[in-house]
Amino acid sequence: MKIAIVGASGHIGSAVVREARDRGHEVTPVARDASSLGNGVDADVLDRGSIAGVLTGHDAVVLAVKGPETVPAAVRTLIDVLPGIGVRRLLVVGGGGSLEQAPGRRFVDSPNFPKEYLAEARAQGEALDLLRAQGGALDWSYASPPPVHLVDGERTGAYRVKAGDAPISGADTRITIPDFAAALLDTLEEGSFVRERFTAGY
Ligand SMILES: NC(=O)c1ccc[n+]([C@@H]2O[C@H](COP(=O)([O-])OP(=O)(O)OC[C@H]3O[C@@H](n4cnc5c(N)ncnc54)[C@H](OP(=O)(O)O)[C@@H]3O)[C@@H](O)[C@H]2O)c1
Repeated sequence: MKIAIVGASGHIGSAVVREARDRGHEVTPVARDASSLGNGVDADVLDRGSIAGVLTGHDAVVLAVKGPETVPAAVRTLIDVLPGIGVRRLLVVGGGGSLEQAPGRRFVDSPNFPKEYLAEARAQGEALDLLRAQGGALDWSYASPPPVHLVDGERTGAYRVKAGDAPISGADTRITIPDFAAALLDTLEEGSFVRERFTAGY
């Protein structure tokens, strides 16, 4: 597949680039400063004109940008731009805070949720709402790591994935970034979790 990864120089985006290249995909790394990445393209995802030009011709776009204002704005921009350039498949690297500890009760709304992640987790919940509200023009998926911990570590390949708003039952509260990246590439290759949120864990 020809895959554009927006946020490619980031912590998670760079792992997604690595995994996609290891699997033989044609990868376009995108960031505002992507010059250090092999064949990287500099573009601001919030600049509709330039991002449309960069993403045209790809089979799928992975979004892995960060920031309480940037994340929902970037999702809104891609919802608007992608249908017009003939790109249907969008995979958003999401947050785990909007997963539910009980039906209707999100982790991010619990008093114990780490304060330092609150703004990002709320923004990520907003991004998920935007995707769910869009019409049928996009085959989106939203990937949630476990509620709090996405950590550096080994690629074990031993993860499980499931659709829906609940974390994986009995799973560890963490997943490594290389395993999360592998779960994202499985999703693109299998065409799974279309118009759904899914999560990964052990
Ligand atoms: N790290 C975690 O533990 C964790 C846990 C759960 C969920 N997440 C989610 O995963 C996502 C990625 O997190 P991360 O830790 O990998 O972030 P990060 O390391 O800060 O990387 C963000 C990437 O986005 C690019 N970027 C930022 N603004 C951009 C823009 N306007 N246009 C184009 N590219 C832009 C950055 O490069 P430039 O600055 O060069 O543009 C960089 O490549 C976030 O949405 C976060 O909520 C992260």
